[in-house]
Amino acid sequence: MDIDLNQIEEIINQIGQAQTLEEVDALYLKLMGKSGYIATATRSLSVISKDQVKEIAPKLTQLRQLTETATKKTRLEIKEKEYEKLDLEQLDLTTFEKIKQRKGHLHPVTQFEIEIAELFSKLGFQQFDAPHIDTDENNFELLNIPDNHPARDLWDTLYIDQSKLKVSPGKLLLRTHTSNSQVHIMKGLKPPFRMMSIGRCFRYENLDARHEHTFDQFELIYIDKGVNMGNLQYLSEYFLKAVFGSDIKVRLKPKYYPFVEPGAGVDGQCIFCHGAGCKVCSNSGWLELAGAGMIHPNVLRNGGIDPKKYSGIAWGFGPERMVMLKYGIEDIRLLKSGNLKFLERY
Ligand code: PHE
Repeated sequence: MDIDLNQIEEIINQIGQAQTLEEVDALYLKLMGKSGYIATATRSLSVISKDQVKEIAPKLTQLRQLTETATKKTRLEIKEKEYEKLDLEQLDLTTFEKIKQRKGHLHPVTQFEIEIAELFSKLGFQQFDAPHIDTDENNFELLNIPDNHPARDLWDTLYIDQSKLKVSPGKLLLRTHTSNSQVHIMKGLKPPFRMMSIGRCFRYENLDARHEHTFDQFELIYIDKGVNMGNLQYLSEYFLKAVFGSDIKVRLKPKYYPFVEPGAGVDGQCIFCHGAGCKVCSNSGWLELAGAGMIHPNVLRNGGIDPKKYSGIAWGFGPERMVMLKYGIEDIRLLKSGNLKFLERY
Protein backbone atom coordinates (compact mmCIF):
# COMPACT_ATOMS: atom_id res chain seq x y z
CA MET A 1 0.00 0.00 0.00
CA ASP A 2 1.40 3.29 -1.09
CA ILE A 3 0.66 6.34 0.99
CA ASP A 4 1.47 9.46 -0.97
CA LEU A 5 1.88 12.18 1.58
CA ASN A 6 3.23 14.58 -1.04
CA GLN A 7 -0.04 14.52 -2.90
CA ILE A 8 -1.88 15.41 0.33
CA GLU A 9 0.47 18.33 0.91
CA GLU A 10 -0.08 19.45 -2.64
CA ILE A 11 -3.86 19.53 -2.12
CA ILE A 12 -3.43 21.46 1.13
CA ASN A 13 -1.46 24.04 -0.87
CA GLN A 14 -4.29 24.24 -3.39
CA ILE A 15 -6.72 24.97 -0.56
CA GLY A 16 -4.54 27.94 0.36
CA GLN A 17 -4.87 29.32 -3.14
CA ALA A 18 -8.54 28.63 -3.81
CA GLN A 19 -10.61 31.59 -4.96
CA THR A 20 -14.16 30.47 -4.14
CA LEU A 21 -15.85 28.75 -1.23
CA GLU A 22 -17.00 25.97 -3.59
CA GLU A 23 -13.39 25.25 -4.57
CA VAL A 24 -12.33 25.12 -0.92
CA ASP A 25 -15.15 22.71 -0.05
CA ALA A 26 -14.37 20.42 -2.99
CA LEU A 27 -10.65 20.26 -2.06
CA TYR A 28 -11.48 19.68 1.62
CA LEU A 29 -13.67 16.72 0.66
CA LYS A 30 -10.93 15.38 -1.58
CA LEU A 31 -8.80 15.01 1.59
CA MET A 32 -11.21 14.53 4.47
CA GLY A 33 -14.26 12.98 2.77
CA LYS A 34 -15.07 9.29 3.44
CA SER A 35 -13.00 8.15 0.48
CA GLY A 36 -10.69 11.15 0.55
CA TYR A 37 -6.89 10.83 0.64
CA ILE A 38 -6.38 11.31 4.37
CA ALA A 39 -9.23 8.98 5.34
CA THR A 40 -7.95 6.31 2.96
CA ALA A 41 -4.39 6.71 4.24
CA THR A 42 -5.59 6.44 7.83
CA ARG A 43 -7.44 3.22 7.00
CA SER A 44 -4.25 1.80 5.40
CA LEU A 45 -2.36 2.12 8.68
CA SER A 46 -3.82 -1.26 9.66
CA VAL A 47 -2.06 -3.03 6.83
CA ILE A 48 1.41 -1.61 7.12
CA SER A 49 4.31 -2.44 9.38
CA LYS A 50 4.53 -1.07 12.91
CA ASP A 51 7.62 0.93 12.04
CA GLN A 52 5.86 2.55 9.11
CA VAL A 53 2.87 3.35 11.31
CA LYS A 54 5.14 5.05 13.83
CA GLU A 55 6.52 7.20 11.08
CA ILE A 56 3.35 7.96 9.13
CA ALA A 57 0.62 8.25 11.78
CA PRO A 58 1.93 11.47 13.37
CA LYS A 59 2.42 12.96 9.89
CA LEU A 60 -1.16 12.15 9.04
CA THR A 61 -2.36 13.82 12.23
CA GLN A 62 -0.33 16.86 11.34
CA LEU A 63 -1.73 16.90 7.80
CA ARG A 64 -5.28 16.63 9.13
CA GLN A 65 -4.66 19.67 11.32
CA LEU A 66 -3.07 21.51 8.42
CA THR A 67 -6.10 20.75 6.28
CA GLU A 68 -8.48 22.12 8.91
CA THR A 69 -6.51 25.31 9.51
CA ALA A 70 -5.89 25.96 5.79
CA THR A 71 -9.61 25.47 5.05
CA LYS A 72 -10.68 27.77 7.85
CA LYS A 73 -8.21 30.47 6.89
CA THR A 74 -8.99 30.43 3.18
CA ARG A 75 -12.74 30.45 3.79
CA LEU A 76 -12.35 33.53 5.98
CA GLU A 77 -10.17 35.29 3.42
CA ILE A 78 -12.64 34.62 0.61
CA LYS A 79 -15.56 35.93 2.69
CA GLU A 80 -13.67 39.05 3.62
CA LYS A 81 -12.90 39.78 -0.03
CA GLU A 82 -16.60 39.47 -0.82
CA TYR A 83 -17.54 41.89 1.94
CA GLU A 84 -14.98 44.35 0.59
CA LYS A 85 -16.57 44.06 -2.85
CA LEU A 86 -19.99 44.79 -1.31
CA ASP A 87 -18.60 47.85 0.42
CA LEU A 88 -17.32 49.19 -2.87
CA GLU A 89 -20.60 48.58 -4.65
CA GLN A 90 -22.78 51.69 -4.73
CA LEU A 91 -26.38 51.89 -5.79
CA ASP A 92 -27.06 55.10 -7.69
CA LEU A 93 -30.85 55.37 -7.67
CA THR A 94 -30.88 58.31 -10.06
CA THR A 95 -29.68 56.05 -12.84
CA PHE A 96 -32.96 54.15 -12.82
CA GLU A 97 -34.74 55.56 -15.85
CA LYS A 98 -38.09 54.27 -14.62
CA ILE A 99 -37.86 56.04 -11.28
CA LYS A 100 -36.98 59.24 -13.13
CA GLN A 101 -40.07 58.97 -15.33
CA ARG A 102 -42.39 58.35 -12.39
CA LYS A 103 -41.51 61.61 -10.69
CA GLY A 104 -44.84 62.79 -9.30
CA HIS A 105 -46.55 66.01 -10.27
CA LEU A 106 -49.70 67.88 -9.38
CA HIS A 107 -52.98 66.75 -10.87
CA PRO A 108 -53.96 68.84 -13.93
CA VAL A 109 -57.07 70.14 -12.14
CA THR A 110 -54.97 71.18 -9.11
CA GLN A 111 -52.42 72.86 -11.39
CA PHE A 112 -55.24 74.79 -13.04
CA GLU A 113 -56.78 75.80 -9.70
CA ILE A 114 -53.45 77.12 -8.43
CA GLU A 115 -53.08 79.13 -11.64
CA ILE A 116 -56.57 80.65 -11.31
CA ALA A 117 -56.17 81.31 -7.58
CA GLU A 118 -53.01 83.29 -8.39
CA LEU A 119 -54.89 85.17 -11.09
CA PHE A 120 -57.61 86.29 -8.67
CA SER A 121 -55.26 86.90 -5.76
CA LYS A 122 -53.79 89.67 -7.96
CA LEU A 123 -57.23 91.31 -7.72
CA GLY A 124 -57.20 91.01 -3.94
CA PHE A 125 -59.20 87.79 -3.54
CA GLN A 126 -58.27 85.59 -0.58
CA GLN A 127 -58.90 81.87 -0.12
CA PHE A 128 -61.44 80.45 2.27
CA ASP A 129 -62.03 76.74 2.92
CA ALA A 130 -65.61 75.77 3.73
CA PRO A 131 -66.42 72.29 5.07
CA HIS A 132 -67.08 69.38 2.69
CA ILE A 133 -69.60 67.98 5.14
CA ASP A 134 -71.96 70.80 5.95
CA THR A 135 -75.49 71.41 7.14
CA ASP A 136 -78.52 71.54 4.88
CA GLU A 137 -78.90 75.04 6.28
CA ASN A 138 -75.58 76.34 4.89
CA ASN A 139 -75.76 74.42 1.64
CA PHE A 140 -79.43 75.24 0.89
CA GLU A 141 -81.70 77.01 3.35
CA LEU A 142 -79.63 80.12 3.99
CA LEU A 143 -79.03 80.36 0.25
CA ASN A 144 -82.70 80.97 -0.25
CA ILE A 145 -83.52 77.33 -1.03
CA PRO A 146 -85.92 76.12 1.68
CA ASP A 147 -86.88 72.47 2.11
CA ASN A 148 -89.14 71.20 -0.67
CA HIS A 149 -88.25 74.17 -2.89
CA PRO A 150 -88.39 72.89 -6.49
CA ALA A 151 -84.93 74.39 -7.16
CA ARG A 152 -83.45 71.63 -4.97
CA ASP A 153 -83.78 69.40 -8.02
CA LEU A 154 -80.83 71.29 -9.48
CA TRP A 155 -78.59 69.53 -6.97
CA ASP A 156 -78.86 65.75 -6.48
CA THR A 157 -77.76 65.58 -2.90
CA LEU A 158 -75.96 62.94 -0.82
CA TYR A 159 -77.23 63.13 2.77
CA ILE A 160 -75.31 61.75 5.76
CA ASP A 161 -76.81 58.88 7.76
CA GLN A 162 -77.06 60.47 11.23
CA SER A 163 -78.89 57.63 12.98
CA LYS A 164 -75.79 56.75 15.06
CA LEU A 165 -74.75 60.32 15.84
CA LYS A 166 -75.00 61.32 19.53
CA VAL A 167 -75.05 65.06 18.79
CA SER A 168 -77.53 66.77 16.51
CA PRO A 169 -75.80 69.41 14.41
CA GLY A 170 -78.79 69.68 12.06
CA LYS A 171 -79.33 67.80 8.84
CA LEU A 172 -75.90 66.98 7.32
CA LEU A 173 -74.93 66.48 3.71
CA LEU A 174 -71.93 66.42 1.39
CA ARG A 175 -71.81 69.94 0.00
CA THR A 176 -73.21 70.04 -3.52
CA HIS A 177 -71.42 73.28 -4.41
CA THR A 178 -68.85 75.72 -3.05
CA SER A 179 -71.72 78.20 -2.56
CA ASN A 180 -71.98 76.64 0.93
CA SER A 181 -69.04 78.94 1.73
CA GLN A 182 -71.10 82.10 1.18
CA VAL A 183 -72.83 82.31 4.55
CA HIS A 184 -69.74 80.97 6.40
CA ILE A 185 -67.76 83.86 4.90
CA MET A 186 -70.42 86.52 5.54
CA LYS A 187 -70.79 85.45 9.17
CA GLY A 188 -67.02 85.39 9.69
CA LEU A 189 -65.99 88.65 8.01
CA LYS A 190 -67.08 92.25 7.88
CA PRO A 191 -67.56 93.71 4.38
CA PRO A 192 -65.96 94.83 2.18
CA PHE A 193 -64.22 91.58 1.18
CA ARG A 194 -63.18 89.57 -1.85
CA MET A 195 -62.96 85.86 -1.20
CA MET A 196 -62.51 82.70 -3.23
CA SER A 197 -63.54 79.22 -2.24
CA ILE A 198 -62.11 76.22 -4.08
CA GLY A 199 -62.59 72.50 -3.61
CA ARG A 200 -64.43 69.22 -3.71
CA CYS A 201 -68.18 68.99 -4.16
CA PHE A 202 -70.36 65.93 -4.35
CA ARG A 203 -73.61 64.99 -6.09
CA TYR A 204 -75.68 61.88 -6.48
CA GLU A 205 -75.16 61.66 -10.24
CA ASN A 206 -75.58 59.08 -12.94
CA LEU A 207 -72.01 58.93 -14.19
CA ASP A 208 -71.23 59.60 -17.81
CA ALA A 209 -68.64 61.45 -19.90
CA ARG A 210 -69.85 64.79 -18.49
CA HIS A 211 -70.96 63.91 -14.95
CA GLU A 212 -68.95 62.83 -11.92
CA HIS A 213 -70.20 62.33 -8.35
CA THR A 214 -67.04 64.02 -7.03
CA PHE A 215 -65.82 67.19 -8.70
CA ASP A 216 -64.39 70.61 -7.92
CA GLN A 217 -65.87 74.08 -7.96
CA PHE A 218 -64.22 77.47 -7.84
CA GLU A 219 -66.27 80.34 -6.45
CA LEU A 220 -65.74 84.05 -5.94
CA ILE A 221 -67.66 86.14 -3.44
CA TYR A 222 -67.19 89.89 -3.61
CA ILE A 223 -69.14 92.19 -1.30
CA ASP A 224 -68.75 95.94 -1.08
CA LYS A 225 -70.75 99.14 -1.49
CA GLY A 226 -71.88 99.61 -5.07
CA VAL A 227 -70.81 96.23 -6.48
CA ASN A 228 -72.80 95.62 -9.66
CA MET A 229 -73.22 93.55 -12.81
CA GLY A 230 -70.42 95.52 -14.47
CA ASN A 231 -67.98 93.99 -11.96
CA LEU A 232 -69.36 90.60 -12.87
CA GLN A 233 -68.79 91.16 -16.57
CA TYR A 234 -65.27 92.41 -15.82
CA LEU A 235 -64.34 89.39 -13.65
CA SER A 236 -65.75 87.00 -16.26
CA GLU A 237 -63.72 88.57 -19.05
CA TYR A 238 -60.59 88.80 -16.92
CA PHE A 239 -60.83 85.10 -16.16
CA LEU A 240 -61.77 83.77 -19.60
CA LYS A 241 -59.20 85.88 -21.43
CA ALA A 242 -56.47 84.64 -19.10
CA VAL A 243 -57.46 81.01 -19.71
CA PHE A 244 -58.40 81.00 -23.40
CA GLY A 245 -56.63 84.04 -24.86
CA SER A 246 -57.42 87.72 -25.21
CA ASP A 247 -59.61 87.38 -28.29
CA ILE A 248 -62.32 85.30 -26.61
CA LYS A 249 -65.74 87.00 -26.55
CA VAL A 250 -67.75 86.82 -23.33
CA ARG A 251 -71.46 87.35 -22.75
CA LEU A 252 -73.81 87.16 -19.78
CA LYS A 253 -77.29 85.72 -20.22
CA PRO A 254 -80.10 85.46 -17.68
CA LYS A 255 -80.06 82.28 -15.63
CA TYR A 256 -81.92 81.24 -12.52
CA TYR A 257 -80.20 80.36 -9.26
CA PRO A 258 -82.20 80.93 -6.08
CA PHE A 259 -79.32 82.67 -4.25
CA VAL A 260 -78.62 85.35 -6.86
CA GLU A 261 -80.85 88.02 -8.37
CA PRO A 262 -80.37 88.70 -11.18
CA GLY A 263 -78.66 85.40 -11.98
CA ALA A 264 -76.41 84.96 -14.98
CA GLY A 265 -74.90 82.24 -17.11
CA VAL A 266 -71.42 83.27 -18.24
CA ASP A 267 -70.78 82.23 -21.84
CA GLY A 268 -67.53 82.27 -23.74
CA GLN A 269 -67.49 82.12 -27.49
CA CYS A 270 -66.76 78.50 -28.47
CA ILE A 271 -62.99 78.02 -28.52
CA PHE A 272 -63.25 75.25 -31.13
CA CYS A 273 -65.37 76.91 -33.85
CA HIS A 274 -64.99 80.59 -32.81
CA GLY A 275 -68.72 81.11 -32.95
CA ALA A 276 -69.46 79.32 -36.22
CA GLY A 277 -71.21 76.40 -34.48
CA CYS A 278 -69.84 72.88 -33.93
CA LYS A 279 -70.51 69.62 -32.05
CA VAL A 280 -68.92 70.81 -28.79
CA CYS A 281 -71.14 73.93 -28.52
CA SER A 282 -74.24 72.16 -29.92
CA ASN A 283 -74.08 74.55 -32.90
CA SER A 284 -74.80 77.58 -30.72
CA GLY A 285 -71.36 79.14 -31.08
CA TRP A 286 -71.21 79.64 -27.28
CA LEU A 287 -70.14 77.54 -24.31
CA GLU A 288 -71.61 78.14 -20.85
CA LEU A 289 -68.55 78.35 -18.60
CA ALA A 290 -69.71 79.77 -15.26
CA GLY A 291 -72.75 80.58 -13.15
CA ALA A 292 -73.02 83.92 -11.41
CA GLY A 293 -75.20 86.77 -10.22
CA MET A 294 -75.83 89.53 -7.69
CA ILE A 295 -76.14 87.93 -4.24
CA HIS A 296 -79.82 87.80 -3.28
CA PRO A 297 -80.79 90.28 -0.50
CA ASN A 298 -82.18 87.37 1.55
CA VAL A 299 -78.79 85.66 1.49
CA LEU A 300 -76.99 88.87 2.50
CA ARG A 301 -79.43 89.23 5.37
CA ASN A 302 -78.89 85.57 6.39
CA GLY A 303 -75.16 86.35 6.55
CA GLY A 304 -75.79 89.38 8.76
CA ILE A 305 -75.12 91.95 6.02
CA ASP A 306 -77.49 94.85 5.35
CA PRO A 307 -78.54 94.68 1.66
CA LYS A 308 -79.41 98.38 1.75
CA LYS A 309 -75.77 99.21 2.45
CA TYR A 310 -73.90 96.51 0.59
CA SER A 311 -74.26 94.51 -2.56
CA GLY A 312 -72.28 91.50 -3.72
CA ILE A 313 -71.59 89.14 -6.52
CA ALA A 314 -71.13 85.38 -6.47
CA TRP A 315 -69.44 83.69 -9.39
CA GLY A 316 -68.59 80.02 -9.79
CA PHE A 317 -67.33 77.51 -12.33
CA GLY A 318 -66.23 73.88 -12.61
CA PRO A 319 -62.44 73.54 -12.99
CA GLU A 320 -62.80 70.03 -14.46
CA ARG A 321 -64.85 71.33 -17.35
CA MET A 322 -62.32 74.11 -18.01
CA VAL A 323 -59.42 71.65 -17.96
CA MET A 324 -61.33 69.38 -20.36
CA LEU A 325 -61.86 72.27 -22.77
CA LYS A 326 -58.29 73.49 -22.41
CA TYR A 327 -56.75 70.09 -23.23
CA GLY A 328 -59.51 68.57 -25.38
CA ILE A 329 -60.31 65.81 -22.84
CA GLU A 330 -63.61 64.17 -23.75
CA ASP A 331 -64.48 62.11 -20.67
CA ILE A 332 -64.58 63.71 -17.20
CA ARG A 333 -64.19 60.28 -15.55
CA LEU A 334 -60.56 60.09 -16.78
CA LEU A 335 -59.61 62.90 -14.40
CA LYS A 336 -60.21 60.94 -11.20
CA SER A 337 -59.49 57.50 -12.68
CA GLY A 338 -56.03 57.33 -11.08
CA ASN A 339 -54.77 56.31 -14.52
CA LEU A 340 -51.12 57.43 -14.45
CA LYS A 341 -50.62 56.95 -18.19
CA PHE A 342 -53.31 59.56 -18.73
CA LEU A 343 -52.24 61.92 -15.95
CA GLU A 344 -48.55 61.87 -16.92
CA ARG A 345 -49.45 63.80 -20.08
CA TYR A 346 -50.25 66.97 -18.13
N1 PHE B 1 -73.45 77.03 -7.03
C1 PHE B 1 -73.89 77.04 -8.42
C2 PHE B 1 -73.90 75.59 -8.94
O1 PHE B 1 -73.48 74.73 -8.26
C3 PHE B 1 -73.02 77.89 -9.28
C4 PHE B 1 -73.13 79.35 -8.92
C5 PHE B 1 -72.19 79.93 -8.09
C6 PHE B 1 -74.13 80.09 -9.43
C7 PHE B 1 -72.31 81.26 -7.77
C8 PHE B 1 -74.26 81.45 -9.12
C9 PHE B 1 -73.35 82.01 -8.28
O2 PHE B 1 -74.36 75.31 -10.00
